[in-house]
Amino acid sequence: MALRQIREEGDEFLRKKSREVEIDDITSEKIQSLIDDMLETMYNYKGVGLAAVQVGMLKRVIVIDVEDEKGPYVLINPQIIKTKGEKECDEGCLSFPNQFGKVVRPTEVIVEFYDRNAKKVKLKAKDLLAQAICHECDHLEGILFVDKVLAGTLEYVTPEE
Ligand code: NI
Repeated sequence: MALRQIREEGDEFLRKKSREVEIDDITSEKIQSLIDDMLETMYNYKGVGLAAVQVGMLKRVIVIDVEDEKGPYVLINPQIIKTKGEKECDEGCLSFPNQFGKVVRPTEVIVEFYDRNAKKVKLKAKDLLAQAICHECDHLEGILFVDKVLAGTLEYVTPEE
């Protein structure tokens, strides 16, 4: 496993749309090591989620860990098929270090995806997991949380030494 460099604010690559992974490629060395590296990178920077585009790969692959009993989650070619509710959430992004703001997200989503074993999964997610899935799926379309942040709520927090 290896840490990968995270693309940050101002990098136009983050605006690109990611491409679907071929089902037969999911278990390939290339995709499996991408997943391992994304998990390592997410944990290293203490993120809740990471999309492949953030480490320079235009693949529809996301990793999420909300510290629940089922995670970490690896979602390949995710499709949100249903959303329910609305909630103002505090949000940040590893591509926008030290910036946080409020974003409206669904309280519940149903998402379909392939897991890292190329098994098709349908997952019902709530609260922080639903929020993270929406945030990461946005990345796959080149959409960033700052596009959706509620006016006047974006804050810059000075990191602690
Ligand atoms: Ni993000």
